[in-house]
Amino acid sequence: MQSLEAKDIEAIRKQFPIFQGKEDFIYLDTAATAHKPKCVMEACEKCYAQQYATVHRSVYGLAMEATSTYERVRQRVCAFLHASSPEEIVFTKSTTEAINLVARSLGSTVLTPGSEVLISLTEHHSNIVPWQWICKERGAELKVIPITSTGELDREALEELLTERTKIVSIAHIANTTGTVHPIEYIAKAAHKKGAVVLVDGAQSASHMPVDVQKMGCDFFTFSGHKAYGPTGIGVLFGRLPLLKAMPPYQGGGDMIEEVTFEQSTFQPPPLRFEAGTPPISQVFGLNAAIEFIESVGRERIAAWENRLLQYAMQKLMKIPGLRIVGTSAHKGAIISFTVEEAHPLDLATLLDAKGVALRSGHMCAQPTLQHFGLSSLLRVSFGIYNTLPEIDRFVFLLEQAINVLKSGLIRV
Ligand SMILES: Cc1ncc(COP(=O)(O)O)c(C=O)c1O
Repeated sequence: MQSLEAKDIEAIRKQFPIFQGKEDFIYLDTAATAHKPKCVMEACEKCYAQQYATVHRSVYGLAMEATSTYERVRQRVCAFLHASSPEEIVFTKSTTEAINLVARSLGSTVLTPGSEVLISLTEHHSNIVPWQWICKERGAELKVIPITSTGELDREALEELLTERTKIVSIAHIANTTGTVHPIEYIAKAAHKKGAVVLVDGAQSASHMPVDVQKMGCDFFTFSGHKAYGPTGIGVLFGRLPLLKAMPPYQGGGDMIEEVTFEQSTFQPPPLRFEAGTPPISQVFGLNAAIEFIESVGRERIAAWENRLLQYAMQKLMKIPGLRIVGTSAHKGAIISFTVEEAHPLDLATLLDAKGVALRSGHMCAQPTLQHFGLSSLLRVSFGIYNTLPEIDRFVFLLEQAINVLKSGLIRV
C-alpha cells in the first residue's frame, strides 16, 4: 500500500467544488458532515436527469432499470462493510433512524422488565435517547459503561456490567467527542458470551477506516451517507440476517408489505420489510458514488493520512498554554475536542469563523460526555481526506491569535 502524500491530497481536493477558489477556507467539521466530491453531485444529478423512476413497483423499463441500480448499490454497500449478503443491508434515512429502528423493533421483542441495555459514556444523543425511550416502555434498565481519564472504555467495568440480564450493547465505533476508537471485537466477544447482541454506531468510522462487520463480530452496524462524502437523507443499517428476520417492521407503508387487507397485513422479508414508503432513490445513487470515491482512495490510506493529520495537530495544540484536550486515548480517530482556559468555545469559534475556519463548538450532541468531563461546551476539529498539514498550521496560528484577542481584553467575553 503506497501511502498518500501532499500531492495526492491536492489532487483529491480538486474533486471537491466547495474548496475551489476559496484560499482562506479551512473546513474542520467533517465529523458533523463531510463535503461532497463532484462525482457524488454528478451521480445525484444523473439520477434525476436520466435514471429517475420509482423502485420495486412498476414494470416499465425506466423503473425496472432504477430498481436494478438501487439493488446494485445494496450489493456495493454489502461489500463495503464485508457483510455476508445484500439482504443484511437496510437503507435508512440516517444513523439516527437506523438506531431508532433497532431500538424500537428489536427492543420491543427482547427487552422485558429487569433486562438491560448497555451503552458507553461517550455516546451521541442518537445512541442514548432511543434506548431511554424503549427501556422506559419495556421496564428495562439503561446502563452506562464508564470510561478512563483518557476516554477509553473501562474494560473491567464492562465485564462487571455484562450479565445475563444484558440484552443489547450499543456503542459508537469512534466516539464523536473524544475520538476514541472503541475495541469492538473485544466488546462483541464479551457481550456474546452473555447472549447480548451488539450494535455499532459507525457514523464516525465508516469512511475513515476499514470496516469488516464479520471480523468485528457485531450484529448491527450503521452509518450515515452525509458523513461519508455522500448525500444527506441516506443511511445504512447492517443487521445479521437471522436477527433481521426475527424483527418486526419499524414503520408501515408501501413496499414493505406482502398482502394487506383491512383486517391484517403480512410483510416482506428483510431488508424491504424495513424500507416502508418510497425510498431516497437519488441519495442511494449518490451513496454509490461516495463509496466508489472512498474505495478509489482506499480506507487504509485514508486512515493513515488522517492519523498523520491527527498526530500533527495534537502535537501543535498541546503546546498552547491553557489548552486542554478532551480524549487522549492511544487509538483515536481524526477528532480533537478541546477547551481553552478563560476563552469560551463560542467566542473562539466566532473569531475563527471570521478568518475562514469552520469548526464545531457547543455540546457535540453528547451532553452526558461533556458533563462527565465537567464541561458544557467544547471546540472540536475533525479531519477528512481533503485536509492538509498547512491548513493545520494556519488553523493553529489563527487559534492562538483568537486566544490572544480574547485574553487581551480587546473583546470582552
Ligand atoms: C457517533 C455519532 N452517532 C450518530 C450520529 C448521528 O448521525 P446522523 O445525524 O447522520 O443521523 C452522529 C452525528 O454526528 C455521530 O457522530
